[in-house]
Amino acid sequence: MSSTLFRTKKVEQSIRDTEEPEHALKKSLSALDLTVFGVGVIIGTGIFVLTGTVAKNNAGPAVALAFVVAGVVCALAALCYAEFASTVPVAGSAYTFSYASLGELPAWIIGWDLVLEFALGTAVVAVGWSGYVASLLADAGWHLPAELGGRDGAQGFGFDILAAGLVLVLTGILVLGMKLSARITSIVVAIKVAVVLIVIIAGAFFITGSNYDPFIPESQPVPAGGDLRAPLIQLMVGWAPSNFGVMGIFTAASVVFFAFIGFDVVATAAEETRNPQRDMPRGILGSLVVCTVLYVAVSIVVTGMQNYKDLSVTAPLAEAFKAVGHPWYAGLISFGAAVGLTTVCMILLLGQTRVFFAMSRDGLLPRFFSHVHPRFKTPHRPTILLGVIIAIVAGFTPLSELAELVNIGTLFAFVVVAIGVVILRRTRPDLPRAFHTPWVPVLPIVSVCASLWLMLNLPAETWIRFGGWMLLGVVVYFLYSRTHSRLARGESEAGDDSSPRPPAV
Ligand code: ALA
Repeated sequence: MSSTLFRTKKVEQSIRDTEEPEHALKKSLSALDLTVFGVGVIIGTGIFVLTGTVAKNNAGPAVALAFVVAGVVCALAALCYAEFASTVPVAGSAYTFSYASLGELPAWIIGWDLVLEFALGTAVVAVGWSGYVASLLADAGWHLPAELGGRDGAQGFGFDILAAGLVLVLTGILVLGMKLSARITSIVVAIKVAVVLIVIIAGAFFITGSNYDPFIPESQPVPAGGDLRAPLIQLMVGWAPSNFGVMGIFTAASVVFFAFIGFDVVATAAEETRNPQRDMPRGILGSLVVCTVLYVAVSIVVTGMQNYKDLSVTAPLAEAFKAVGHPWYAGLISFGAAVGLTTVCMILLLGQTRVFFAMSRDGLLPRFFSHVHPRFKTPHRPTILLGVIIAIVAGFTPLSELAELVNIGTLFAFVVVAIGVVILRRTRPDLPRAFHTPWVPVLPIVSVCASLWLMLNLPAETWIRFGGWMLLGVVVYFLYSRTHSRLARGESEAGDDSSPRPPAV
């Protein structure tokens, strides 16, 4: 049985599948489109909301260092993603990469895991967006009934109508086609980046040096009784759970990591890229570098404008400008955040539909979902199904702890991709690789350790939820996917390729 669980799909077969006419997506994206896509999804709730939360609760002004730590972890993972994406240029991101290198069960696990990143991430960002829009509407004197303003504002029943509405509108846009989505994205990304630059440049004039003292606040014990909220690593080694100090920077990094989620989404659009071999690595690394520089600059400016203890946990960038007596800037920033979060939501949703599409094309999910629309050339069926489900989740779910679940799922995918790079180098050294990850296997191993380190800095309760979700995935695999897989049914040439488990790394 182990040989079927670890049967791999040949890379050539993955590429051939994309050429079957009824399953083919349109190849229309360039490196610039990909970078815009990347920046469009990367800059979002992380910088607009979590900067304040994390500075106030975990790191103080050293939140800038937390962004550097999280950025380095992502850069290591990006170097692995870039090699895989340029070798296996088909829809499905880490899922497809794993199918080609680790085998069917690990690929299924990754596909299931990516739901945490993409579907749950879409819901989290939609709820964050709804908060900004509700506050802009309130400024204009228009208040939503509490029951329709989301779970947090309601007594008993609460449905976040704005968040759910946003997801449904974006679903419609994605069904209509990639090119339309990319065009809308470029305009919105320009607005968002402009607002971030305004924060950095205008805010620099309001910095007070004493706010940086102390830059790394002294470590403080976590209140008693919050053990499951403590980072797993602290419980494992028996430390008293604490915030701030040097360990606080790592806790902060494991949370602000959310701000970088999305660069890997660029890889999910490989199949729709004109020249993936050249453009994929450029798109992934380019968007990551731009965002890291902006994040560090924004967090230094904001913690310089206002003492970290006074920062807002809902709209820290806008509130910092109010605190220095410039509410006009605050309105502008809220507007930019509301506009900017729409693209984050849209691209995360896009990533989810493409992974789902790839899994159904392989038969691990019902094949019904793997047909593309004859006119729009988009996978309309999974897009509509997922859009409706995510709209319901976004309507009913409060967001804060879900963000940590998104992070653990994404970091787990990074671990699998880094291992996959090493395995594919050994099992398929012959494949053409437009981009080579440097220093293999050292760099992928460092990437695995770095991602695991951030995972261990997430709360113990996040690990429990993650374990529960993954267990459910394994059950679904054995009840449905294992027998319906195209490889299992010998429907493709790759069915002959039931190779035994690749050598361990
Ligand atoms: N990186 C994205 C954000 O910050 C998910 O919202």
